[in-house]
Amino acid sequence: MTRYRGNRLNTESLWYGLYNKSIELGMWNPEALMDEIGFEEDKEIWQNLDDKEKEQVRRILVAFLDGEFEVGDDAVHHLQTIMDAPCLEDNEMKQMYMTSFALTEHKHTQFLDIYIENVMDGFDDYTDLNPRGEARVPIVEATGVGEVYEHQGRLTAKASETHDPVDIARAAACYHLDVEGILARTGFFAINKMSANAPLPLLNRGFKFISTDEGRHLTHGVRLLQELLEKERNGEPEYQGVGDAIVEVLNEDTPPMAEFAYMITDSVDDPLDVGFSNLLMRGGEFVDGMYNESLDLDYDSMEYVERIRHRYQDIDDSEIQADLEKLREEYQVKRGA
Ligand SMILES: [Fe+2]
Ligand SMILES: [Fe+2]
Repeated sequence: MTRYRGNRLNTESLWYGLYNKSIELGMWNPEALMDEIGFEEDKEIWQNLDDKEKEQVRRILVAFLDGEFEVGDDAVHHLQTIMDAPCLEDNEMKQMYMTSFALTEHKHTQFLDIYIENVMDGFDDYTDLNPRGEARVPIVEATGVGEVYEHQGRLTAKASETHDPVDIARAAACYHLDVEGILARTGFFAINKMSANAPLPLLNRGFKFISTDEGRHLTHGVRLLQELLEKERNGEPEYQGVGDAIVEVLNEDTPPMAEFAYMITDSVDDPLDVGFSNLLMRGGEFVDGMYNESLDLDYDSMEYVERIRHRYQDIDDSEIQADLEKLREEYQVKRGA
């Protein structure tokens, strides 16, 4: 992983390796990419999409935008502190990696925010209010995606205060497995599918970089959880409950995940052919890969798929529309005040 040895630094550490990789691979420059490719072609393709196609692209991008904003915020305020927890090994290298981790999340926000502003015709924009929790993009808040981000904020805040291994497992499960794993990866899959009919060159290049960065983030999350699980399995008392906590968090986040998939497909009639069932199957594969192959948790991924399907069947679009209206009114009132 490295050719060099240090004195203070453990250059053999996985986290040193992730840090080193981020210096090299994570240093793509969003503005340089924009200079190189330009906005013109994306703008032209965007303007030729019909209203529903635009709405589908817009929904997925604002879900990412709110998500990147919140993971960036939680990385700085909470993950950085969690990496100092005495129950974790290799604290210094983990903390060192976390600096580049947070930087990458901010770059993702930077890319998406500038892209949306320059290529698309804007969106329900309430960023003059506090976008964190108080004024997420209405469609993100009206469907369950906002709930997952909220959950992530609560769990990472708690773990950063308690430094308890089970709390850390909950926080990492929500942040890395649910948000960066299942939600982001099914999102990347949807972006890829959409690009067949809406081949936005700058967007697709940006997302290639984002998904490579997220691959490292996921490696960090999975290895962190493996470390905690190993101690639980070795019978160390403080770590008991880690495995159950990881699965509980997944179960808590499953219904909102179904709403996310619905929000970016059938609720706009899926004009760009993403396919709700494609997302469902991809999600099931990710769950199987992470929870069973990587973490050996013996989780029934078909149960996950069934829970998503049930929530999907229960979704009442008129409720989402009513929530959207209510939120817009609330935001207007806040803005007026
Ligand atoms: Fe990100
Ligand atoms: Fe990430």
